[in-house]
Amino acid sequence: MADPTHAEFDDLLREHRTFAPPPDFTARAVVRDDSIYAEAERDPDAFWARFAGELEWSRRWDTVLDWQPPHAKWFVGGKINASVNCLDRHARGPRRNKAALIWEGEPGDRRTLTYFDLFRQVSAFANVLKSLGVRKGDRVAIYLPLIPELAISMLACARIGAVHSVVFGGFSAESLRDRINDSKCKLLVTADGGFRRGQIVALKQVADEALADTPSIENVVVVQRGHAEMPVHIEEGRDHWYHRLMQDASYKCDPEPMDAEDMLYILYTSGTTGKPKGIVHTTGGYLVGTYATTKLVFDLHEEDVYWCTADIGWVTGHSYVVYGPLANGATVVMYEGAPDWPKKDRFWSIIETHGVTVFYTAPTAIRAFMRWGVEWTQKRDLSSLRLLGSVGEPINPEAWVWYYRFIGGERCPVVDTWWQTETGMIMITPLPGVTTLKPGSATRPFPGIAAEIRTERGDKVEVGGGLLALTRPWPSMLRGIYGDPERYVRQYWSKWGSGVYVTGDGAKRDEDGCFWLLGRVDDVINVAGHRIGTMEVESALVDHPGVAEAAVVGRSHEIKGQAIAAFVTVKEGTHATKDLADVLKEHVVKKIGAIARPDDILFTADLPKTRSGKIMRRLLRDIAEGKALGDTTTLADPAVVAKLKANYEEEYGG
Ligand code: PRX
Repeated sequence: MADPTHAEFDDLLREHRTFAPPPDFTARAVVRDDSIYAEAERDPDAFWARFAGELEWSRRWDTVLDWQPPHAKWFVGGKINASVNCLDRHARGPRRNKAALIWEGEPGDRRTLTYFDLFRQVSAFANVLKSLGVRKGDRVAIYLPLIPELAISMLACARIGAVHSVVFGGFSAESLRDRINDSKCKLLVTADGGFRRGQIVALKQVADEALADTPSIENVVVVQRGHAEMPVHIEEGRDHWYHRLMQDASYKCDPEPMDAEDMLYILYTSGTTGKPKGIVHTTGGYLVGTYATTKLVFDLHEEDVYWCTADIGWVTGHSYVVYGPLANGATVVMYEGAPDWPKKDRFWSIIETHGVTVFYTAPTAIRAFMRWGVEWTQKRDLSSLRLLGSVGEPINPEAWVWYYRFIGGERCPVVDTWWQTETGMIMITPLPGVTTLKPGSATRPFPGIAAEIRTERGDKVEVGGGLLALTRPWPSMLRGIYGDPERYVRQYWSKWGSGVYVTGDGAKRDEDGCFWLLGRVDDVINVAGHRIGTMEVESALVDHPGVAEAAVVGRSHEIKGQAIAAFVTVKEGTHATKDLADVLKEHVVKKIGAIARPDDILFTADLPKTRSGKIMRRLLRDIAEGKALGDTTTLADPAVVAKLKANYEEEYGG
């Protein structure tokens, strides 16, 4: 079959088709009717307690929720350990020999770890951490490729009560250094390297650069991923090979009974300032939230083979590769590399080989697959799939329908899940056995979640567009920003009063109560599902000695959702050349990482400013989008904009 024609798509979209759950899906689903929404509304605390009761606590909680807006405590008085819930309770029962992780490296190497294997390795590494002086409450940085040791390290931290801070392997040395220093990590787990599109990413070398300026780090554990291909420098006394330490480690490690509100991890994410913030998640509520959503949204059954393609360096990997699925005792597929390596059917070959039944990926990937063409999907048997998910950015109806049709064979529900690093768990989503789907809509808040659309002033919008707000606490909500309690309150809970969480997203709600997410309304952009602060990129640009001023905006991009457009003024004596543009792009990569590389750089003599001197980003966005310019009357010098627009169009085709 050839690629669908535009006429075919138009047909599908013009109908405003809705997709009711297939009856045979519903018949076997975890949730079969929508009474669960009413149940959760009647008594949200009891609803969450029901799921908490399915986990293993060493001491049961006294109170489900203590809410002193905007500070929440969940499962107060409860004692729980995340690694016990993800491992021990499965390893001691019928799931002992069930595959917990099925891992594929990019070069094609494979490893399968049963629940018992994973339990033993985690316990052993927990003992290693202890032997290196890591204690409850200490922070451990993890900078690894997508290999089993990443999950092992996280769970080992959780076992002894250390707080992990995973840094995505694509981040630069400076980004790693800043994250380590912000939370004063005591130990770093890294690897000699990883594979990406056949190339070696020399992680330890990057880490070495960071380690030159991280005084809190006492020990570094290095996983050997690449053997001879990846020579590394081992600093005696500080750096230790993972495999050597593991040789002598005992597999017996009593789990630390953690208070439900003890910190489980910190994960840095971009915000509206130049500096990423460390989002804090705690143990009990986070586990309940990720456990419940994984079970219900992905409709997990014992025999499922579940694959979420996210890197564990992002929250999606924390919640839906590690904690949620393992707490459910699921079989989780992990793949280290790129979707087009060695060929463009790698994902489909993984689905075929491992019999993946539930597949969760990002719209950017789906749009790339569309561009690559359906012939890649048709070479492979995808009939094992029964449920598809999407996350990270708005999914356009075309991509949704393509996914539904060519990957799901028109038999698999598609769950478009909206959430954030801060929410910890999926917040707006269909439940696949009960929700009628609309391509492009994340549909309804998960049971127990209260979401609404508000105007800037805070008035509720029943039907129509506005700002997305969450009006009730939820178990896996962030508990703070590491080291900055004041920013937590100001950033998320101050716009409309201390009980209402501001998401930073625009959305609309339709007549059926379905939510349509429209993207960020603040200075955060979403490039290929990765969150990047415009100010971060601006800071990286002005860090270059030739740059005087920089303004960064997002513009639409066919595949990546958004692309990064930078407007730059140079200092006297610097020549604004094509070469300089390339140098600046590399400079940003060096400062932040490849995900922040600007797509367009436009040199300009002036930036459009209001009479009070504020850069008018709205105008820059319009220029980068190639839109007609609106009102420019508040500008100090309207000629600046007209010139800028003409230049941009000349350079990038408008
Ligand atoms: O703008 C929303 C977008 O991603 C942002 C959160 O990014 P991050 O914290 O990195 O977490 C990504 C994975 C959960 C949100 O503010 N976003 C996430 N999922 C969706 C989405 N936008 C539209 N539809 C989604 N399903």
